[in-house]
Amino acid sequence: MKTRNVIAILCAITLCLGFAVSSFAGIDPGTGIKDSPHDLSVLTDDNRLCAFCHTPHHAVDMGSQYAPLWSRSDIGVAGYAQYDSTTIDSTVVDQLIGPSRLCMSCHDGVVAVDAYYGSTGDVDGGGAVINVGDDSWGGYGVGLVSGLSNDHPIGFIYDATLVAADGELNPTTTPFVGNTAMTIYDALYEPAPGAGNLFMTCATCHDVHNTDNVDDYFLLGEQNQSGICLTCHDK
Ligand code: HEC
Ligand code: HEC
Ligand code: HEC
Ligand code: HEC
Repeated sequence: MKTRNVIAILCAITLCLGFAVSSFAGIDPGTGIKDSPHDLSVLTDDNRLCAFCHTPHHAVDMGSQYAPLWSRSDIGVAGYAQYDSTTIDSTVVDQLIGPSRLCMSCHDGVVAVDAYYGSTGDVDGGGAVINVGDDSWGGYGVGLVSGLSNDHPIGFIYDATLVAADGELNPTTTPFVGNTAMTIYDALYEPAPGAGNLFMTCATCHDVHNTDNVDDYFLLGEQNQSGICLTCHDK
């Protein structure tokens, strides 16, 4: 009986936390992680903000992958189906190159949000996975079911060659609509600094830290009149 009560309380707490995060009313763009949807500090004992993603010591070894002092294990899932169409001009080099691989360590719908520091996702009664359709985490998993085949393409080089081939893409010197402090170029991922080859990733549209974005969903451009889309697409 006692054990069952404890379990019931743990479940209630987990649901409550999930609800508290997913019922998040809005985002104050550009104000940092605190109180943003990426503020997961409620799940830690000592209220840490960065720990779910970074650690000053004992960071994971992801080989040559970009993993800035990353505290989470590798995503463990590879080879997502990629978006394709007859009108696409870009060529995917590495779908999850750069920040995207890091986003997918939470938004893949498989790895628990609180699987960090070598834990398997059971810290403080957590273990919740961001699942497609899973209300406890707002259904914010983007990688489940059909992989990334129904998502905006990423993992290709966005340069003058692509702009010319497509004919209706803006050059990378274009500032984000509603965010003139940033150009497309600033938001592309460059694996070897200075060597060119800039890639489109999840972080080309979203700022994970809620610092450079001007709108909800951590968006670098405005949602209003689809400014974010018109930043790149000359439509
Ligand atoms: C939800 C996950 C998450 C949290 C929480 C988080 N980061 Fe990050 N951080 C990332 C990702 C993903 C990248 C790579 C993103 C990119 O390059 O756009 C990154 C990159 C960085 C970088 C290197 C690139 C840069 O922007 O300078 C620093 C430094 C950094 N984070 C510091 C912090 C600090 C300090 C905190 C806590 C106040 C924090 N982060 C919280 C996910 C997170
Ligand atoms: C071309 C821009 C773009 C790229 C690239 C992009 N997103 Fe998004 N994302 C958006 C926009 C715009 C929204 C807001 C959708 C809306 O208003 O309904 C969004 C919404 C989201 C949401 C909120 C829940 C949802 O499903 O709507 C999550 C989570 C998310 N993106 C994660 C990612 C991840 C992870 C990647 C990389 C795998 C990524 N995004 C790549 C533009 C982008
Ligand atoms: C440590 C796990 C973790 C990592 C890593 C992570 N996220 Fe998230 N993300 C979350 C959680 C948890 C939520 C909130 C879900 C909810 O509110 O139910 C969220 C919410 C979001 C949202 C919705 C924001 C809104 O306004 O509702 C977007 C967009 C998003 N993340 C994009 C990204 C992108 C892009 C990356 C990589 C650059 C990333 N996330 C990395 C855990 C993570
Ligand atoms: C940072 C620049 C950028 C942003 C922001 C952006 N896109 Fe894209 N989008 C691209 C690039 C580059 C491609 C690849 C074009 C190609 O390969 O032909 C693409 C591809 C697409 C495609 C597929 C084209 C095809 O031929 O199948 C559609 C549709 C699309 N984007 C719509 C949108 C919408 C809607 C938004 C806003 C929610 C958006 N994009 C935001 C750069 C962007």
